Amino acid sequence: MTAAARGARHVAIIMDGNGRWAKRRHLPRVVGHQRGVEAVRALVRGCRQLGLECLTLYAFSSENWKRPEDEVGDLMNLMRKFIKSDLPDFIEHGVRLKIIGDWQGLAPDIVTMLDDALERTAGGSMTVAVALNYGSQQEIARAASRAAAKGQVTPEAIEAELDTADLPPLDLLIRTSGEVRLSNFLLWQAAYAEMYFTDVLWPDFKVEHLQAALDEFATRERRYGGR
Ligand code: FPP
Repeated sequence: MTAAARGARHVAIIMDGNGRWAKRRHLPRVVGHQRGVEAVRALVRGCRQLGLECLTLYAFSSENWKRPEDEVGDLMNLMRKFIKSDLPDFIEHGVRLKIIGDWQGLAPDIVTMLDDALERTAGGSMTVAVALNYGSQQEIARAASRAAAKGQVTPEAIEAELDTADLPPLDLLIRTSGEVRLSNFLLWQAAYAEMYFTDVLWPDFKVEHLQAALDEFATRERRYGGR
C-alpha cells in the first residue's frame, strides 16, 4: 500500500541512535553517522515508491553545536559528501531538496553547495526537507517576528512564515532509538501529527520500518480536537 493510500502526505523523522549503534559494535561514533547517512540514502530511494509527498529529516539541530568539535566536523563533512554524491540521483528521480533551519549560518562552502542543490532540484515532485542548524523554538520566534513586521500575529500569519510553509501538513513524526521526546523539532507542525516511537537505531532503520509506521498511522483516528 502506498503512503497516499494510507492517508499520509508528510512524514518527519528524528534520526537518533547513531552513537549507540557504533558503541555496541566498538566502532568510532563517526562510523555510526556514516551508516546513518547510508540509511538516509536507502530511505529516500525507498520512499519514491511509497508515493509520499514529503520526508523531513532532522540532520543537525541548533543544539548539536554543543557536541565535541571533531564530531561536529565529521557531521559537516558527511553533509558535504552526501550533497556531492547524491545530488545527481535527486535530480534524476525528481526529488526536490529543501532545507529548513538557520542554514545560512553554516560554513560558506556548505551554503554555496546547498544553494546550488536547491536550485538544481527545484522542479522535483517529491520533497526531502533536511533540517540543518534547526531549532523549532527559533523557527517559531523568527516566524512570529516576521508576522509582526507585517502587522498581524495570528496562528495563520505565523504558520505562513514558518520554514515549512510550502510543505504539506505534518502527518506522522517518527523518532528512532527509543527516546520519547521532540528535542526542539517541528513543535508547531506537530500540533496534530501522529507520533511513532521505535527502538530501532537510526542506522538500522529501513523502508520496511517506515512502512510499519505508516501501517500503524493508517489505524489511528485523527480528530483534530473534534469528536
Ligand atoms: C543522532 O544520533 C543523530 C545525529 C545527531 C545526526 C543525524 C545525522 C545523520 C543521520 C547523518 C547526516 C544526514 C544527512 C541528511 C546527510 P546520536 O549521535 O545522538 O546517537 P546516540 O544518541 O546513540 O549517541
